[in-house]
Amino acid sequence: MAGNPLPIAVLISGNGSNLQAIIDAIARGEVPAVITLVVSNNADAHGLERARRAGLPVRVLDHRDWPDRESYDRALMEAIDASGARLVVLAGFMRILSDPFVEHYRGRLLNIHPSLLPRYKGLNTHARVLAAGEREHGASVHFVTPALDDGPVIVQAPVPVRPGDTPETLAQRVHQVEHVIYPLAVKWFAEGHLGMDPEGKRVLWDGRPLDHPRQVRVESVWAA
Ligand code: GRF
Repeated sequence: MAGNPLPIAVLISGNGSNLQAIIDAIARGEVPAVITLVVSNNADAHGLERARRAGLPVRVLDHRDWPDRESYDRALMEAIDASGARLVVLAGFMRILSDPFVEHYRGRLLNIHPSLLPRYKGLNTHARVLAAGEREHGASVHFVTPALDDGPVIVQAPVPVRPGDTPETLAQRVHQVEHVIYPLAVKWFAEGHLGMDPEGKRVLWDGRPLDHPRQVRVESVWAA
């Protein structure tokens, strides 16, 4: 592998299946990165167990131990920066981040969102997609900018909505594609392909703006 692996920090609050997908992809040699820190704001997050099992450094920073968002986010930044991470990967981190945090990691802060952005920002996307009678749903990896779920989208994968789907069955299918596109986006970043323009509006690929998010078709979710 050319060059050193990219040091990354992964922030979680819960199950951590996306963290696991990234751990596994790195272990398979597909992503030239090394996880220098896993942070959870929730001591009971199952993802912490996954991180420990993989021998990764973990920190629990419980937001209830800080008086306000800004001071909590400062503690987060200190922990992340002390680990040497150059990329911050939000993987089900259920906290709104303050503008100074987002600014500090400008162009090196990624999130995964369970919808085909810009549609269905916010929470409960699976139920909302079903209620709207959509035929297609999916997941998106994007750079984070101060407005919620609004940063430029790097890569998306659609999934079909099937008759009889519940929010749970749909969530399962969305997770399958998340576990493909998140490691892929980290790989692209680690290989030096990805950037964000100074306005925070466009994704750059090898320095040139991407006209559309990259699309990945995960065949297993389309097979009947
Ligand atoms: C994923 O659905 C992701 O899109 C959203 O939070 C969920 C995290 O799942 N941001 P997991 O903890 O990685 O299993």
